[in-house]
Amino acid sequence: MSKPKVFVTRLIPEKGLDLVREFCEADIWPQELPPGRAELIARVAQVEGLISLLTEKVDAGLMDAAPHLKVVSNMAVGVDNIEVDAATARGIPVGNTPGVLTDATADMAFALMMSAARRVVEGDKYVRSGKWKTWEPKLLLGADFAGATLGIIGFGRIGQAVARRAQGFGLRVIFHDPTSQPAFGAVSVDLDGLLRTSDFVSLHVPLTPDTRHMVDAGALSKMKPNAILVNTSRGPVVDPLALYDALKAGKIFAAALDVTEPEPLPVDSPLLELDNCLIVPHLGSASQQTRDKMAMMSAQNLIAGLKGEELPNCVNPEVYKF
Ligand code: DGY
Repeated sequence: MSKPKVFVTRLIPEKGLDLVREFCEADIWPQELPPGRAELIARVAQVEGLISLLTEKVDAGLMDAAPHLKVVSNMAVGVDNIEVDAATARGIPVGNTPGVLTDATADMAFALMMSAARRVVEGDKYVRSGKWKTWEPKLLLGADFAGATLGIIGFGRIGQAVARRAQGFGLRVIFHDPTSQPAFGAVSVDLDGLLRTSDFVSLHVPLTPDTRHMVDAGALSKMKPNAILVNTSRGPVVDPLALYDALKAGKIFAAALDVTEPEPLPVDSPLLELDNCLIVPHLGSASQQTRDKMAMMSAQNLIAGLKGEELPNCVNPEVYKF
């Protein structure tokens, strides 16, 4: 029996690819940069399955160009790159990779928070540029964790994993998320209260029309002058122009971003001119072990969909009711 044809939009970790190849005739995009739109449309024309990354827009148009498509498996927990409603309307289940990247992403949020608080990247630059002449009592002073307040916006799996880590550092934790219960000693507060009282604000919401630019000029103006903003969720949750203005004017102390709007951030972005803005290239889940698990999970979702079985992790389970 012939194997189902699938398209994998990048060289995902080998463990996942091995599984895909075992069950499928796989067309795997070999290049470092993602396929462009025209290439993507051409490659999906005959396939029954697609493994996508957050760099691909999987919208109604793409699905219409793939008349045999039975499953879309995103190698990410976030699915804002996919028009899930359009997939549901076409009876196509959409898979994602929750859980396996929770700790890695929470670790990154913490790494960014500590780096910004203790000015690690600025210190490294200082040494490399030959400025280090002596021990100075006021050199690159930052902020303590112990006794400070961490405000977590979005208290799902990753937000809670950040709260769990914060307990060990003596931070007082508050959170805002109308859909979640308190956990790990964190206290539920309204958004306004969180912004006004937090020394650190860490974002863990999915990108939706409601959360797009939720951190705008108004939100930033409520934050404390010593506040540090950390974003490991999605870039467009923060208005980049408003953030630039707030950082430049010293309205908040610093920002540490794993995600930006747009991605990749252009090299001439004004944010890159600021020493108090630390930016890494969307590395939240980028540990070897985590990416292996994500690749395996996306392969498992793909294969289940091809077999007509329920996906182990499906964002639109209502598709099975049709
Ligand atoms: C996700 O999974 O949504 C991350 O942003 C990439 O790992």
